[in-house]
Amino acid sequence: LTSRVIADPDFVVAPLDRRIFGTFVEHLGRCVYGGIYEPGHATADANGFRRDVLDLTRELGVTIVRYPGGNFVSGYDWEDGVGPREERPVRLDLAWGSTETNQFGTNEFIDWCRLAGLEPMFAVNLGTRGPAEAQNFIEYCNHPGGTHYSDLRRSHGYEAPHDIKFWCLGNEMDGPWQTCAKTAQEYGRVAKETAKVMRWTSDGLQLAVCGSSARDMPTYGAWEYTVLDHCFEDVDFISLHQYFTNHENDVARFLTAIDGLERFIVEVAAIADAVAARRRSTKRIMLSVDEWNVWYRARAGEQLRGVGWPEAPALLEEIYNFEDALIVGGVLLTMMNHADRVKSACIAQLVNVIGPIMTQTGGPAWRQTIFHPFAQAARYGRGNVLRATVDTGSFAAGDETEAPLLVQSVVHDPETGDVTVFALNRSLDSEMALTAELRGLGTRRLAEAFELHHADLKAINSVDAPDEVAPAQHPRADFTDGVLKAVLKPLSWNVFVTR
Ligand code: AHR
Repeated sequence: LTSRVIADPDFVVAPLDRRIFGTFVEHLGRCVYGGIYEPGHATADANGFRRDVLDLTRELGVTIVRYPGGNFVSGYDWEDGVGPREERPVRLDLAWGSTETNQFGTNEFIDWCRLAGLEPMFAVNLGTRGPAEAQNFIEYCNHPGGTHYSDLRRSHGYEAPHDIKFWCLGNEMDGPWQTCAKTAQEYGRVAKETAKVMRWTSDGLQLAVCGSSARDMPTYGAWEYTVLDHCFEDVDFISLHQYFTNHENDVARFLTAIDGLERFIVEVAAIADAVAARRRSTKRIMLSVDEWNVWYRARAGEQLRGVGWPEAPALLEEIYNFEDALIVGGVLLTMMNHADRVKSACIAQLVNVIGPIMTQTGGPAWRQTIFHPFAQAARYGRGNVLRATVDTGSFAAGDETEAPLLVQSVVHDPETGDVTVFALNRSLDSEMALTAELRGLGTRRLAEAFELHHADLKAINSVDAPDEVAPAQHPRADFTDGVLKAVLKPLSWNVFVTR
């Protein structure tokens, strides 16, 4: 099996928006409590933030982080989570059947973001609430002072505005599981009016409207069109959510999740452009894939409603294996190759809850398998994504008849001159002889080369074996006269950095 890639610096998809390496922290299970925040933990700082999780978050290389939900936000009163901790109300969280203590809220989250070096992306509640509460919240966060809510923030010890730019208008509003779900007409109207008052309250916002909760929702397509028809002028992004599953234990079909995401991206862009076309508008709505990951094993969650209302229960604690890491890598490459439209994306979530980072409450933190392709893409995915020519074989599985065996992305950083080739070999049983001709790019040597592979697709990392699945130096790669030659193991993720 051979594959050939040709890349040239003049053929550029788009500069990569680093916000595609985003993540998500929801008040759900042990993501906040026992994840990023655990006062009393051996590594906790004065704020109660776990330093071990902060360190792993920095190593993961995430850039932007969505908060506070997810389904949680559709019943959340932001006022509950600010001010003196002892005065904050304890509430029932209907989304996850849990008790929310509100000991962690907006200001703590902003403090945590600053420490982690992350841009915050906030969601407003368009389930149980509407434009007025969103307006008040923006005033609290972003207005300098001299008004009720901005002075309330200052009285809470935050003199300077948080200056949060990226906002999501609700969450998965077509999902029957959502607290106060809406029809596309209902949601489109309220999203438009909310966007207006948010923009009137604070300058320079970037707003994302909810697309369907997933590509397989019955509302998909019509929802996107109707919602955007209402708020095309008022928003910058439409969201895409997609969780990948392997209930059938069929790795070939599972690997075509990558092609499914590609179709999803192309379709939503087409729908957004159809709305633009009816208006004869040159505006282009960008895509925010603000929830994505593998998620199918630890699905219980909503079932908890009314069953004891636990605090920070162990929910959605998916344990990732090696094959999941291949999917995560391939999904990242697909989003990178659509850098002209995908300008933001959040792996869901960050820690414990379907996360690349796992912790034991009171114990250590470690990297799940999916941590590794994400960290490498975030580290080396800088600069321009190149529109490479690719010659490779194909396979048929799931809905796909001609899925390329090689999934690749070539990124050129004009600042450093580095050119990185990311390559996923999707062949189940054949090594792939890869040739990548990096024409006119001027790199001379192979600075780094990594391989992520494991003989057992179901291998996992655990507290006892945290590095069972981890990248290694690439054993078979050479770069001479602008040509990369490497042998890619069957079912392997590979990264080559030329300099
Ligand atoms: O990320 C877990 C949940 O998945 C989110 O709360 C929701 O938006 C989605 O359905």
